[in-house]
Parts: sequence; C-alpha cells; structure tokens
Amino acid sequence: MIEPDALAARLPRDFTIGVAMAATQIEGAVTEGGRGRSTWDTFAAQPGRIIDGTTPEITDDHFHRYREDVALMRELGVDAYRFSIAWPRIQPEGRGAANSAGIAFYDRLLDELLEAGISPVATLFHWDVPEPLQRAGGWMTRDTASRLADFAALAADAFGDRIDKWITLNEPTTVTLNGYALGIHAPGESLLFDALTTVHNQLLGHGLSVQALRARGVKGQVGVTNVHSPVVAAQRGFMNAQFAKVFDLVHNRIYADPVLLGRYPRFPLLARKEFRALRETDPADMAIIHQPLDFYGLNYYMPTRIAVGAPTEASTPDGDAEAMRDLPFHLAEWPEYPKTGFGWPISPEYLTASLRDYAARYGGSLPPVYITEGGASFADVVDSEGRVDDASRVSYLADHIAAALDASDEVDLRGYFVWTLLDNWEWAAGLTQRFGLVHVDFDSLVRTPKSSFRWLQRVQSSRKR
Ligand code: BGC
Repeated sequence: MIEPDALAARLPRDFTIGVAMAATQIEGAVTEGGRGRSTWDTFAAQPGRIIDGTTPEITDDHFHRYREDVALMRELGVDAYRFSIAWPRIQPEGRGAANSAGIAFYDRLLDELLEAGISPVATLFHWDVPEPLQRAGGWMTRDTASRLADFAALAADAFGDRIDKWITLNEPTTVTLNGYALGIHAPGESLLFDALTTVHNQLLGHGLSVQALRARGVKGQVGVTNVHSPVVAAQRGFMNAQFAKVFDLVHNRIYADPVLLGRYPRFPLLARKEFRALRETDPADMAIIHQPLDFYGLNYYMPTRIAVGAPTEASTPDGDAEAMRDLPFHLAEWPEYPKTGFGWPISPEYLTASLRDYAARYGGSLPPVYITEGGASFADVVDSEGRVDDASRVSYLADHIAAALDASDEVDLRGYFVWTLLDNWEWAAGLTQRFGLVHVDFDSLVRTPKSSFRWLQRVQSSRKR
C-alpha cells in the first residue's frame, strides 16, 4: 500500500485534491424552499426503478446539515469541493426567474466553503432535469439546451463572483446511455441508438451554457465533465474490433471529439444507420459546441470489454437493462481484476491509459485536465468500536491517484476529486452502494469518518505547500 507521505511527495504543490458530490444524491428536502420536482423524483417514485425503493426525499439531508458536512471537508483538509446546483431548486418549473430560497441555500453553502478555505467547483447539470422540461421531452428536445443556458445565466448572476470552476454537464454519456438508451436511469427510456439525439442536445446545452457564463463575466474557469471508459475488444477478429469501436464512439468519442475538436468522429460503415441522429445535425451547431475551455473534467471508474454476440444476461455496471438483449454485442467480464461492491473491475492502469489516450488523440486541443471523479463502493460497516475500516478504498484511491500522476508527463493534470465525501443515494442502486470517505447511517444520519478519510487527511497534511 502507498503510504500517505509517499503519495503526498508525488503531488505537485498546486495539485488540487477535492471531494465531489451531487445535489440529488445528498440534499434531500425535495419539497422545501420552493424546489420543483425533477425527473429523478418522478422516476424514483415508479415501482421497481430503484433497487431498494428509496427516493431522493431524504438521502443525507445535506440541505439541513451542510454546515456539518463542510466542517468534515475542512477537517479532511481538501482543497476543493465539487457540488452541483440543483436545477429545480433554482428554476422549479425549468424556466423563468430564479427562486430566491434556492439561491439562498447555495449562498449559505458558498459562505461556509469560503470561510473554510475550500475552493467551490460547481456543476450545473448533474442529471436533475426539472420535471416540466422532462414532460416536454427532456434531452430529446433541442429546447432543453436553451433552458440549461438560461439556468447557467441565473447561476452566473447569483454565484459568479465566488465559484472558482464551473462544470456545465456531468457525464452526458451516462444520461444518454442509462437514461435514454437502456432505461436504467431517469427518465427510463429504452431507445437504444435512437437515444443519440440526446447527445447533440446536451452538447448544445454545454456550448450555450459556456457562452452564457462567459457573457455574464463569471470569475471562475469553465469546463465540462464526461466519464471515460477505455474500451477493448474481448477477442481478436474483425467484428470484435468493430463493436469495440462502436462502443468507444458511443461511450467516449461522440462527446469529447465535438467539444475538443469541433467535429463528430467518423462513423464506421457497419453502424452508419445507427448514428444517423448525429450525422444529420446542423453543422452550424458545432461552432456553439466547440467552445474554448479552461479545463476538461474526466471521471474514471473502469474500463469496458466488448464481445460479439447478444448478452445472455441483462446486467450492466449500473443495473439490469432488458434493452441490452437487443444488441449484437455484450459487455464482457474482467476476471483478472478484483472488484468493487458494485462489481466494477479495479484497474488503475486503465486510468493512466485513458489519460495517455487523451493526450495522443487531442494533443494541443486538450486543456488542463482534472479527474473530476474517482472512487469505489464497498460494503462498509461500523464495527463494535465505532470504526469503519475501509482498507480497500484506501488502496483504490492511492493506486488511482498514483496512476493518474503516472500520465502527467503527457497530460497537464491539475487535480483529482474523490467520489465521494458521504455515503449517498446512488441513483438506481438507492442506498445500497457506499462510496463515501464518511459512513452515513441512513436511519440516524450520523456521519462517521472511515479509515480512508483519515488516510486522505494524512496525505493532505503531509504535503509541502
Ligand atoms: C456519477 C455519480 C455517481 C458515480 C458512481 C458517476 O457516474 O457522476 O453521480 O454516483 O459515478 O456511480
């Protein structure tokens, strides 16, 4: 295991170590302060959608306990906190003037962070489409892109003087794949390749939001975050390689290429029909999508292995999806790697590979990079002495931060944000997957720092600044 001071010695002086969370997963208080409904409230209320039947209603009750949570961050000694601004708190109907009670909550949070010397990093869209916009089509509708830009402008007016970094979208890949293609996440559509319309609309939302933030003169830097999963073919052979390529396009490149290069990638002949939604977009949109960025955010959790043949089971990393069975390829296992509680392969070397791949593919078009999320779920328990020993998470984080640093000769890597501070509501997995540095008892809401919290605290305090 990498000792805290050994890792600390490898961290550049100004390298950001942060924690990341998202509104729906921690805030609760879904009807307080005039908050509107989000697509996730609706989705979670449908029977069978969330594995344990829980909803965003309470989660960590961070809306009321944010002071305690910022105090934990201060104790941990992190440099930055990446949070998301709940769209339905600011615009309960998804349009119109800002809801002052919603603004007031983030004002209080920002005051607390600045007082603690923690740099605020705000995500605008972490999946909580206001329900009225979802009813109008959500990301299948171009109008949602303009609505996001309006929200960005309101957030800029309210918080533009205090936020250090803005992230327009979190993981558009996951929204398209899990939300619209496979039906695992809200809004629960199973459109397979027809879901690709949501890619373009989200990217347009990104571009318009960057323009809106800059037009309002925000002092912070502006970027975007996607989740990258390096894709490999399970076996040799033409079809394995083709399907791996299609999955790489769908998961990674149809987002990163337009944002960083200003064009969609070339689509393989085999799947030209499937990518029609992206081949037929208005070329003028690319000028909006391809904005100069101050940084690029990359979330890394695991690689993907693709094999020819329809899946025999419907499972995906984030839950079961019957729609998977209609595909001519499937996600293959990684028997050579240990697994997280979610069953995800633990393979830090693919993080190094992802970063090197970005450097090779985007070269001078790649701005400074932050790993805006990385972490793992394990079945953590509080022992009889009140301790939570999560040695597996310590190794996971140490190995992944080190693996990211291994690529810093090729990529201008500026930071790593741990997903996540608190155990929280893990979307379709409800409260069953614990990712936190801090254990949360979901009955009493008592927070208990785990050994990974103490480990990261030692890393931070050993750094030479
Ligand atoms: C998301 C988080 C999520 C985490 C673990 C990312 O996909 O941005 O909201 O909790 O991964 O699944």
